[in-house]
Formats: sequence, structure tokens, C-alpha cells
Amino acid sequence: MKTTTENTFKAQFARDVDLGLSSEPKFLPSRYFYDAKGDKLFQQIMRMPEYYLTDCEYEIFDRQKADILRAIYNGQKFNLVELGAGDGYKTKLLLDHFLQNEVDFEYVPVDISKDVLQELKGSLQKQFPALKVSPLNYEYFEALERLNDLDKAPKVILFLGSNIGNFTPERARTFFDKLNTTIQKGDLLLCGIDLKKDPRTILAAYNDPTGITKAFNLNLLTRINRELGGNFKVENFNHYPTYDPFSGEARSYVMSTVDQEVYIEALDKSFRFTHSEPIHTEISRKYSLAEIEKLAQNSGFEWLHHFTDSKGYFVDTLWKK
Ligand code: AVJ
Repeated sequence: MKTTTENTFKAQFARDVDLGLSSEPKFLPSRYFYDAKGDKLFQQIMRMPEYYLTDCEYEIFDRQKADILRAIYNGQKFNLVELGAGDGYKTKLLLDHFLQNEVDFEYVPVDISKDVLQELKGSLQKQFPALKVSPLNYEYFEALERLNDLDKAPKVILFLGSNIGNFTPERARTFFDKLNTTIQKGDLLLCGIDLKKDPRTILAAYNDPTGITKAFNLNLLTRINRELGGNFKVENFNHYPTYDPFSGEARSYVMSTVDQEVYIEALDKSFRFTHSEPIHTEISRKYSLAEIEKLAQNSGFEWLHHFTDSKGYFVDTLWKK
């Protein structure tokens, strides 16, 4: 028996696929990349030499953890809330440093995946027995609202890895607006954002020669086959990334290499794809430091500081409500 949550998820997935593949031009939402296989592929992406984002943010935390601590801590207890916690690879640098300095804080990882949170909690308890971990298995804003009721301590919110890049500028604005109204005055946000830079460097991060990013994109079709009874012939599609230095948008497309029709059982519907027709699957927007400061201001935050890596590729920007 499937649970209700699984059924609701499947129904939503089906609706989103229907909407995207019926649109002109076609699209599919990138949040569906992350099934078990997609999570594994993304971990491989983070280890690729071309995917500089993870290394840069790791370097920022490694070299500037003392500065980050000074900027966020005044001796008063706080909750370190991480939106979309993942495996904690980078966050552990901060946690370790905070513990060594006997900082009074609790770590609150937020994720919609129970599995992710369970695994993270286990590995944290092993590595840092003294760390207080209180996972919240909710959607971001629901988690923040619950936390407001549970605990009045000030919050430092982490939103790392340039996840904000997956939003259009309008959605990024809505996201920060909503975040601002959901948190308390004095709460802080440390947001990891990939910066505009040489277009070749950016494009290479989404166009690796080993084909991991290709597999990551095409996995979306495999997932539709498995979960919605699609009959995509994955070998009839290719991966096509672009980068536009004006908008700062890296885009990924899955492109049909032949004229073809695909049937999806859950929708009892067929979709036509013409030769070279693209399906837009993801945007990974890059920002300039000036754009980031404006974004902070426009959504009611005070911009405090940019922590950048030694190459100037990536920033963890600190904002205050
Ligand atoms: C996890 C959304 C930050 O956009 O760079 C990596 C996902 N897509 N390679 C990004 C991704 C293709 C990644 N984010």
C-alpha cells in the first residue's frame, strides 16, 4: 500500500509533467532531479573538478570560520537553522569550529526528506557527540513558523550551495520577502550564492566531459518512466547547457535528437517531440555582488558582509533582519 503522501506526491509530479510538456516551449521542474539516483549523481557532480561551487564554499568556511563566528555570535544562544541540509559536508566545518569555541547554539537542519535528516543526524552524533541537533522534517517556511513557536532564541539561517540560483529573479525576490516576514527582527541569514565570472568557467561546470551532468538531467526522463509509466527512450535525448552572461543564467536543456512521440501512462497521454526540440529543465542563476546587495535591501534585509573565496567565484553573504 502506498501512503497518502506518496500518492499526493505522484499526483503533483504528474500534473507538473503534464503542464511542462504541454507548454510551448516545453519545460520540466528541476526539483524532480532529486530521487535516490539524482541525489547520488549530484554528489558526483560536487566532486567533479569542473564544479567549482562546492570547493569554493568549502574554502570560505575553512578559512573564514573564525570571522563568520565573530560576525554572528555575541555570546547569546542561537539556533543555526539550515534550509535544505543535505549531507552537511560544508556545514560540519562551522559546527566543528563552533563546538571547539564552546559556542552556545543548537543545529536545526530542515529538509523535506526524512531519510536525509536521519542520515545527517546519525553522522553528526558520531562525529560531534556534544552537538545538539533538532531536525525539522518540514517544508522551509513551515519549519521556520514552527521554530518561532518552539524557541524564541535568535536564528542564524543557512541557505547554502547556490540553491537560490534555481529560482527565477522574481521567485528569488518572493522567497526572500517571505523569509523576511517569517523570521524575527535581529535574525541573520548566511546565503551561499555563485557569482558571475568568466562564462567559460561557468559553462564548464554544467558541461563536464564525463557526462555526469548529462546523466543528472536525463535521469528526469528515467524517473518519469519509472514513477509515471512513461516510455521515454532516453537514448533519443541529449543534454544541452547554455550560459548567458547578461542575465547570469546558466540553463540546462534536454533535447530530442529525433522526431518522436512519448506516452505517459499516469496521464494517459502522448507528447510529441520534434528533432532538436528542447525541454528546459533547470536554471542556475549567477549574481554580481551589487545585485546581491540590492536583493537584500529590496526584501527588507540589511546587508552586513560578503565572505568570498580566494578566486572571487562564490560568496556567502550575511544579511540581517
Ligand atoms: C544544487 C541547484 C546549486 O544549480 O549548480 C548542478 C544543481 N545542476 N549541476 C546548481 C546542479 C547541474 C546545482 N544546485
